[in-house]
Amino acid sequence: MRIGILGAGGMADALGTQWLRAGHEVMISGRDPGKTAAVATRMTSVAGVAGGPGGSVLTGTWAEAAAFGDVVMAAVWEAGLRDVLTAAGPALRGKPLIDVTNSATPDSYDPTRPIAQMAADITGANVVKAFNLGHVDVWRMTPPVFDGRPLAVPLCGDDAEALEKVRALVTDLGCTPLDGGGLARATLLEATAAFVIGLWFGGADAQAILTPMEHAGA
Ligand SMILES: NC(=O)c1ccc[n+]([C@@H]2O[C@H](COP(=O)([O-])OP(=O)(O)OC[C@H]3O[C@@H](n4cnc5c(N)ncnc54)[C@H](OP(=O)(O)O)[C@@H]3O)[C@@H](O)[C@H]2O)c1
Repeated sequence: MRIGILGAGGMADALGTQWLRAGHEVMISGRDPGKTAAVATRMTSVAGVAGGPGGSVLTGTWAEAAAFGDVVMAAVWEAGLRDVLTAAGPALRGKPLIDVTNSATPDSYDPTRPIAQMAADITGANVVKAFNLGHVDVWRMTPPVFDGRPLAVPLCGDDAEALEKVRALVTDLGCTPLDGGGLARATLLEATAAFVIGLWFGGADAQAILTPMEHAGA
């Protein structure tokens, strides 16, 4: 798959490196071309050292990364998301767009402003909310497995083909894709992130709030 990434920070680096290693072609984009090129060089080197197929991470403008990807991932801070998606332009229309965005802090989360829906409204892309519940370092793990159990990654989106592509990218990490429902439910993923990140920042073990399945009353 060709994966265009809007962003050249931690999430772009972590997930893009995994996907390069899995044999995908990756292009990243950022505000500062010099910084973006340095990140691409490091990603290429890390993926190669870890046994990747040896392809290089490409760099481009927001619009070039949007046009490059069969799948595009938005991995910039919420404050810049609207401008970046606008600059990415019409190439995003009808394309699978992974949205990993959380509010800048748990306290600034606003349930009346759904982020993934905003991304869909701006771009006309087939947005899939994913990867927003795990810390960036989790996405560097090969694979993210805890107590012998692969991390489950909930996906919220409306388009079957986009969901299928993102499920494959989740599986490439060694994680298990989980059906989280349609895009309207992405706001629940955004709220969940704000809630559990607030617990983690407060020093609580957020994982401990959920009972095992056999006690879920399901
Ligand atoms: N970090 C995590 O653990 C984590 C986990 C799950 C989801 N997320 C979400 O993933 C997204 C990216 O996080 P990250 O950890 O990759 O952040 P990061 O390392 O700080 O990188 C953010 C990227 O966004 C760009 N950016 C920041 N502000 C911008 C603006 N106003 N306009 C345009 N571009 C801007 C940065 O460009 P410069 O390099 O030029 O600053 C950089 O390319 C965020 O929405 C975050 O909520 C993060």
